[in-house]
Amino acid sequence: MELVANRWYPVLASAELRPGASLGARRLGHDLVFWRGDDGAIGAAADQCPHRRAKLSGGRVLDGCIECPFHGFRYDRAGACVAIPAHPDRPIPGSMALRALPCREEHDLVWLWTGPDPAPDDPVPFFDFTGWHWAGTDFHEDVATHYTRAVENQLDYAHLPFVHRNTIGRFATVDAEVHTEVDGDRIAFWAGDPDARIELVGPAIWRNRTGSMYQFLAFVPIDDTHMRYYVRTYQRAVRIPGLDRVFGRMLAFANRIVLGQDTPVVETQPAEETRLRMGEVLVPSDAPIIAYRRWREAHRAPFALPEPPDPHAMSGA
Ligand code: FES
Ligand SMILES: [Fe+2]
Repeated sequence: MELVANRWYPVLASAELRPGASLGARRLGHDLVFWRGDDGAIGAAADQCPHRRAKLSGGRVLDGCIECPFHGFRYDRAGACVAIPAHPDRPIPGSMALRALPCREEHDLVWLWTGPDPAPDDPVPFFDFTGWHWAGTDFHEDVATHYTRAVENQLDYAHLPFVHRNTIGRFATVDAEVHTEVDGDRIAFWAGDPDARIELVGPAIWRNRTGSMYQFLAFVPIDDTHMRYYVRTYQRAVRIPGLDRVFGRMLAFANRIVLGQDTPVVETQPAEETRLRMGEVLVPSDAPIIAYRRWREAHRAPFALPEPPDPHAMSGA
C-alpha cells in the first residue's frame, strides 16, 4: 500500500505484546511478526521464515530472538539468523535473514518506520500531554476501510450534526465556519472557539479536547481495505488510582458509542485511499480534509518491506 514516507506509524498497543511473547498481525499491508524479549525490547519483521517460509508468529522467544516453530532457526531483532540447530558447526549464510522493520515503542504504542531513509533517533512526534493523565485504559475498534477514510472522518466537522445527532453532535452548528491550520505534519481545525481545536499529527495520531478531557486516536493501517483505531482519553478530572481506571472505562464506553455511529457510515464509502482527485466533489466545509489530502500527496510513496539479502548467496550453504 502507499503510505507517508519516512514517518512513524502506530501499529500495536504495548499491552498486546507481553515479555517473551510473539504475535502475528497484518499491518501496513503486510503479515508481520512482532516479538518482545524478556528485556522488554521489541522486534518486528515479515512473518515468514526465509528457510522454507513457515510463519514465525507463534514461535518461541529466546534471548530476545524469535525462533521459527518449524526447524528452530533463530533470528535477532536486526533480522540476522543466529542459530540453525541442524547445523550448529556450519557458517550461517548471510541471506538467511528476516525482512526486519525499524520498530520503536513510545507512549504505550508500538511504531514502525516507513523509510526509505534510515529511522531517526529522535522521539516519535507526539502531542504534549504534560499535566494530563491516562489511566492505561484503551480499546481498539476495527473498521473495514482504508485508514485515510478514518482519518478524514475525524477531520470532518460537518458530519457531527448528522451522524452524531443524538450524542456529541447535539450542539454542533450545521452551517459552522470551519477554520483550518497546517503546520508541517500538523493539521488543526475548529469551528468557533480556536481552543477547542481538533488536531492531527500526521500521519496517524489525533486528539480532540473537550473541557478537561482529550480524546485520542491512533489510526493503524492494516491493509488497503482495513484499519484499526486505538482509542484513549487523557484527562485531568480524576487521578486517584483505581478510580481513574473506572473513569477511563466509562469514557471508553462513551467513545465506543460515538465510534459506533461513525463506522457504519464510513464503511459505506468506497474502501480506498483518498486522493485530491478521485471523483468526489468537495465543498468548503471539507477544508481540513483537502489540507490532509494535499499534505499526504506531497509525502506519500509505495511502502515495501526492506529487501532481504540476495538469495543466490545461499548456494554456499
Ligand atoms: S521454515 Fe523456519 S526453520 Fe525451517
Ligand atoms: Fe464521527
